[in-house]
Amino acid sequence: MEFLRTLKRTHTNGQLRADDVGREVVLMGWVQNRRDHGGCIFVDLRDRDGLTQVYFDPQVDAEAHGLAEDMRSEYVIGVRGKVISRGENVNPKLPTGAIEVAVEQAIIFNAAQTPPFPINDRVEAGEDIRLKYRFLDLRRAPLQRAMIMRSTVNAVTRNYLVDNGFLELETPILTKATPEGARDYLVPSRVHPGRFYALPQSPQLFKQLFMVSGYDRYFQLCRCFRDEDLRAERQPEFTQIDLEMSFVDQEDVFAIIEGLMARIWKDTLDIDVPTPFQRLTYAEAMDKYGSDKPDLRFGLELVGLTDAVGDVEFGVFKSTVANGGEVKALRLPGGGLTRAQLDKLPEVVAPYGAKGVAWVRMKEDGTWQSPIAKFIGADHQKVINERLGMAPGDLAFFVADTWSVTHAALGQLRLHLAKLLELIPQDRFAFAWVTDFPSFEYDPEAKRWIAMHHPFTSPRPEDIPLMDEDPGKVYARAYDCVCNGYEIGGGSIRIHQRSVQEKVFQLLGLSEEEAKQKFGFLLDAFSYGAPPHGGIAMGMDRLIMLLVGTDSIRDVIAFPKTQKASDLMTDAPSPVELEQLREVHIRVATPQK
Ligand code: AMO
Ligand code: AMP
Repeated sequence: MEFLRTLKRTHTNGQLRADDVGREVVLMGWVQNRRDHGGCIFVDLRDRDGLTQVYFDPQVDAEAHGLAEDMRSEYVIGVRGKVISRGENVNPKLPTGAIEVAVEQAIIFNAAQTPPFPINDRVEAGEDIRLKYRFLDLRRAPLQRAMIMRSTVNAVTRNYLVDNGFLELETPILTKATPEGARDYLVPSRVHPGRFYALPQSPQLFKQLFMVSGYDRYFQLCRCFRDEDLRAERQPEFTQIDLEMSFVDQEDVFAIIEGLMARIWKDTLDIDVPTPFQRLTYAEAMDKYGSDKPDLRFGLELVGLTDAVGDVEFGVFKSTVANGGEVKALRLPGGGLTRAQLDKLPEVVAPYGAKGVAWVRMKEDGTWQSPIAKFIGADHQKVINERLGMAPGDLAFFVADTWSVTHAALGQLRLHLAKLLELIPQDRFAFAWVTDFPSFEYDPEAKRWIAMHHPFTSPRPEDIPLMDEDPGKVYARAYDCVCNGYEIGGGSIRIHQRSVQEKVFQLLGLSEEEAKQKFGFLLDAFSYGAPPHGGIAMGMDRLIMLLVGTDSIRDVIAFPKTQKASDLMTDAPSPVELEQLREVHIRVATPQK
């Protein structure tokens, strides 16, 4: 075959420009489309770099023209020919639009069936069919942009971290459970009947052990595995930029990550990210935005009213205050919601546990139009107006419930209104650090304390005595990095003293025996000279989502899984042979279909 052996590809399909006119070139790729204009056949030839128009003139080469008659979409072909100027017929939409290639020799490497959906920028086919034929979906430009973005971000990250003195080190995939709050994926052992490896939810313990071993400044672009409920920004396996540093405090970690984010945004989108990032405490984030990952691209802050509405007539407010709950509101300047949109709001807050949402519209004369106006006296209306800064035409929304329901519901309502009324400036990236998380939260169902970040996070030293008296009052040296409403990273300064780690395990309900069995190696390590250390992991997939502007994580992972954690292309997870099960000493309780 002359093509490939002696006729090597000279250019990609995105490269040729007016300067190249007259050159002899060899191009290869996929047929994007083919148009037969009587005598001449035009083909848009595609590869991941772009499109080039090539044409087959029977006068130039009859054999190549004959082949072109057989070509269809997605055929894989090679052509040799001359670059010709398009003269007047420039296509300004294509980078290669100034030229075309007059084909003198051609080959069809492979024919293709008609694809189940057209390979173009528009998404017309359902996601299931696109996931089943992912290898075709990946040919589309939006997915190619996402994959190329991943590759660029990987390269930028490695360069930046290596320049900053980090070592790239690997950690095991077949390992023991690392608690990050999800279920483990388990792998049965053939050699040890009845025993299992767990896939890592993160490299957390290993990176801490690297610090104990003296490998200061570790990083890894690592895969993590978590069996949890999937959402638009969650996959069962995902990638972290994971790092750990010794002899640092929180500010040192922030500086490294701010520099990394600035470098990534500059090198990919040519955007200057301002540093240092905004800081807010967990308490402030919840209070103002009803979320620990607030979208800071717009206002609509929540306003507390609990102390002002305890004695109104409106039963819901009154009983909420009496029962120690929280009444809060947010003001929507200028109103701007239709009656139908107002009527839909209870559906927005219901999934967050709120039993309702009350609204008020201020009329031109300053009085209220509202279903609850008659239960709230003029004095109270005045106080509420002042707190919220109400002006004629404004709407306000109220939720009364427990602290967590009120914040979750209004936080969600805030996002809903901003999206509905297009109040979110696009092309803005609002990075921030959320700090001062509580260390522990009480799980009323399990009737025990759980770690809000993970059990290896250091409490603030001054709070350690509180662990015995009132664990709810202990604050953690933990931090999250947020951007545009996503949690894009999380980390902490760690515990490095055995006694403190043992105390935390004890608080979390682990007996001494269990602690030894699960984390004995870590406790041992802390007995042999562990430096103070801390780190963070950034969610790579979420960074790419922000960089390419999609709200589905499946758009940025080459071979993702569905909401139900299955891969529609390979059909994983799938049943296995009985013999394979026997080898790993497993008997399946539910009959296999
Ligand atoms: P954490 O559990 O907060 O911390 O994870 C760090 C970041 O990883 C991303 N992330 C996910 N992305 C996609 N799909 C998922 N299922 C998923 N889960 C998490 C998020 C998150 O902020 N070991 C600690 C880090 C540390 O303490 O250094 C950890 O894994 O962007
Ligand atoms: P009702 O008297 O139940 O018809 O409620 C009157 C108004 O109060 C309606 O607009 C409800 O949506 C709203 N409402 C009900 N429960 C709550 C709540 N927990 N917080 C805020 N508003 C509520």
